[in-house]
Amino acid sequence: MKKTLLIFAALFISLHSMADEGMWLPFLLKQMNEKEMKKDGCKLSAEDIYSVNKSSLKDAIVQFGGGCTGEIISDKGLLLTNHHCGYSQIANHSTVEKDYLTNGFWAMNQKEELPNAGLTATFIVRIEDVTTKVNANILSSYTEAQKDSVMKVNIKAAEKEAMNGTGYEAFIRPFFYGNMHILFVTEVYKDVRLVGAPPSSIGKFGGDTDNWMWPRHTGDFSIFRIYANKDNKPAEYSPDNIPYTPKRFLTISLKGTEEGDFTMVYGFPGRTQEYLFSDAVDMTMNESDPVKVSLREKRLGIMNEFMKADDKTRITYAASYASIANYWKKWMGEMQGLQKFDAVNKKKEFEQKFISLVSADPLQKEKFNTLFNDFHKVYAQYKVLNKQMDYYSECLSGINAIAFARYFDKLTDATRKKSSTLKQELEKAKTDVARFHKTYNAAMDRELCTAMLDMYMKGLDKTLRVPSVDSMMNANGNDSRKVTDYLFANSALLDATKITTILNDYDNSSAKIESDPLYVLWKQINSYYNSKVRPSFTSYDVQLNGLYKVYMKGLMDVYKDKKFFPDANSTLRITYGKVKGYTPHDGAIYKHYTTLDGVMEKENPNVDEFIVFPKMKDLYAKKDYGRYADKNGKLRVAFLGSNHTTGGNSGSPVLNANGELIGTNFDRVWEGTMSDIMYNPEICRNITLDVHYTLFVIDKYAGAGYLLNEMKIVQ
Ligand code: ARG
Ligand code: GLU
Repeated sequence: MKKTLLIFAALFISLHSMADEGMWLPFLLKQMNEKEMKKDGCKLSAEDIYSVNKSSLKDAIVQFGGGCTGEIISDKGLLLTNHHCGYSQIANHSTVEKDYLTNGFWAMNQKEELPNAGLTATFIVRIEDVTTKVNANILSSYTEAQKDSVMKVNIKAAEKEAMNGTGYEAFIRPFFYGNMHILFVTEVYKDVRLVGAPPSSIGKFGGDTDNWMWPRHTGDFSIFRIYANKDNKPAEYSPDNIPYTPKRFLTISLKGTEEGDFTMVYGFPGRTQEYLFSDAVDMTMNESDPVKVSLREKRLGIMNEFMKADDKTRITYAASYASIANYWKKWMGEMQGLQKFDAVNKKKEFEQKFISLVSADPLQKEKFNTLFNDFHKVYAQYKVLNKQMDYYSECLSGINAIAFARYFDKLTDATRKKSSTLKQELEKAKTDVARFHKTYNAAMDRELCTAMLDMYMKGLDKTLRVPSVDSMMNANGNDSRKVTDYLFANSALLDATKITTILNDYDNSSAKIESDPLYVLWKQINSYYNSKVRPSFTSYDVQLNGLYKVYMKGLMDVYKDKKFFPDANSTLRITYGKVKGYTPHDGAIYKHYTTLDGVMEKENPNVDEFIVFPKMKDLYAKKDYGRYADKNGKLRVAFLGSNHTTGGNSGSPVLNANGELIGTNFDRVWEGTMSDIMYNPEICRNITLDVHYTLFVIDKYAGAGYLLNEMKIVQ
């Protein structure tokens, strides 16, 4: 009895658990999702959301910088994204005297808006399935390597053809592990200026304590503006540029949202691995995540001490600290979630079921059994290299001095002989090095170096360590402080005066750089990784990709009626769901929204992350919420939805059934962070900043209400 019930339950889950899961390709919405979206309450057609023939919602969405999303909210190119997405720009404009991180920043007219070198906003012009083009002239008799090289040629040619004379950029990405290829034509705007940001006591309220958590009270937004040349086309920063006129901007709705309402998120999710093989889930959950978490925990502890003690250090390292802290916590949530939901066994069961479904055909059975065996074999090797790679990126590279030494690669003699632009590079190096030393906290880095060397020795077996690091430690009785002291006392790279002299005398010789003990250490690490680790790691990666390509195709053939979505890969996607609370654990139910009352409940003048400024307290005391109050007179701050999102979706517009902006996506809930690997509709929720709070802060708190005149707001 119990068993049949269980089987029934499992069946039920596999058929119905798909609700809300998926990050869909905008140009395939009509055939894949339109019907279901309408059934869920969406009032828009697929063509309203994505069209190449007329303006559509997609024209109001940009990839913001490399890793976030932004949305256009006025006909003058005003752009809304998260505070944490604009964080490094806000930090870059901050000084101890003009501390925009702490106090916020608001341009009171366009002249006061601040340019940001290197920041881009990328629009999608069109998206096209080019699978046939990419596979042209590939014969089945070709070896994998031959296929690969023809494919590369095809891709280059198709990208070139798409760009040809348009001023657009174009790239092709593989989907479903290379079973499909899609072309993206983009237009990249390069003059994006900071318009406004709330103080961190709003934009980062709750800090790392509340990060990845619900209930949440963070006003995580910042505002930028895109500038264009006189023809409304992309241009490098120039004071002559004018605000960009968009093809489309979003209408903002203050009508309010309630549980069960349809929502969709339109943006650029970065990376998911929903079709991972069980061995890989096991590796992530039991090895890779725990190692990375413990290394980051150590680094954060050290950084925190130094940042608390000194304001300049706090500002200099703020963005780096926030980004280290972010994934530290995410990986923790992910591994706990995967454990709680028994992810490895679930994957194994799924794989067994798959084998049983193909077993009717002995050839298929044989093919996939072999495939699974190959997965086991490759992962057994891959795991070891993956650990070495983790220790490279999270441990050795966690020492700022080593990351800095790497910079000098371009100034060695060998590189010098090859370079025709050496003069410019040298000038640039002088500026870069001076900038590094202006903010570098050597005392902090000494602690990082000591701790990381220790963890390196403890975490990796001798056979997996870089031999020179190992022998250096051995020669000093494995005393990491001694090694650190030696490096810091003897490296000229870490001494601002000495390295400046070396660079000034560089025309005569680069020998002093090449024999610098820190640089030598970096070279040894790099050459070990380049010869012993990276080549095999990459070759296993290629092998795995080949296996996944076959597996993915198999899944799509076997589950003919299931709609598959491709893993996130930083390309534009739509995900849809409902406004919805959840049950985090037994005995608790989380409501679908929070209010300003909760900000005041959390308020604590003694803890940085929970400080509330007097102005906000004042507005709260007077309940001065104006038209931003809900029907109960409360000011809503954030709400939950069942939209399947991931990193990169930060700043994405959250839209209602009419395609109006109701908020800005900024996070996921702790219990559901494993959704990058395994989505569970019961507990995976995205966290959205309610646009009521955003407008309230701009208008009532910051006194920048003039910006609202540009927006189209419906009540
Ligand atoms: N967890 C969110 C995201 O993945 C927000 C991160 C910024 N906040 C922070 N406290 N570090 O980006
Ligand atoms: N905060 C994340 C970002 O920067 C979004 C949260 C998530 O990973 O879902 O993209």
